[in-house]
Amino acid sequence: MTDSVSTESTTRRRRWRWPSWVEPMVTRVVFSAFVLYALGVVLFEHSGQYQNYVSPFFSPPLGQWLSVPVAPAVLVAWIPLLFRGTCYYYRREYYHAFAADPFVCGVRERPGRAYTGERKWPWVFNNSHRYWWYLAVIVLLFLWKDTVSAFVFHGHFGIGLGSIILLINVVLLTGYTLSCHAFRHLVGGNRDCFTCPQRVAAPRPSTRFRLWRSISGWNRHHGSLAWASMASVWAADVYIRLLMAHIIPDVRFLK
Ligand code: FES
Repeated sequence: MTDSVSTESTTRRRRWRWPSWVEPMVTRVVFSAFVLYALGVVLFEHSGQYQNYVSPFFSPPLGQWLSVPVAPAVLVAWIPLLFRGTCYYYRREYYHAFAADPFVCGVRERPGRAYTGERKWPWVFNNSHRYWWYLAVIVLLFLWKDTVSAFVFHGHFGIGLGSIILLINVVLLTGYTLSCHAFRHLVGGNRDCFTCPQRVAAPRPSTRFRLWRSISGWNRHHGSLAWASMASVWAADVYIRLLMAHIIPDVRFLK
């Protein structure tokens, strides 16, 4: 179903989904709620571990390795913060949601506003995204290690609800990290001819081309993975915190 939006302020026809103010408002509410929650955990909580479950906010355990007088999660949190904060998808979302500048592609600027791209401080900082990607991959490796540990109970393999939540979380985070635009560029960015007819028609496309094509496929879902992985980090921390406070017991499917 399409509407025929072609008003003074809109220069394109768009597929009808929902009123244009809904998405920015949902983004504003969910982002703000997550940021407030994350700030509370990072600044005021000193532990994020229940038995063999480690909250993603506290991995890697830099607080145990370094004796510095700051909350342990602070030592780690700046990496995912900068990684997500400079993410191309999140940039689009928070520019739209919090500044409405640019509002959306194909919509004229409001009087007195002129989007100039990310060429000046502070927005030019967002161009550092690829460097935070490298650090985020290191954090991701620690999260996989924690997930494996979440399936080991007193030296034996087991499955608890926490193991499953942490597994879902790390799978979503891996999808989010590997579908990154910067990673896609890293794999195929210096090739001009991946889509040349002779390459596409070649009977044995190179490994690099196949990898780039896979990442391009994941990249189409990057926005969904951004939301889903943010929700899973949130859910994993909430679950572990409820266990730590003895509000709920861990559900075990296999001891
Ligand atoms: Fe979103 Fe890189 S573009 S994580």
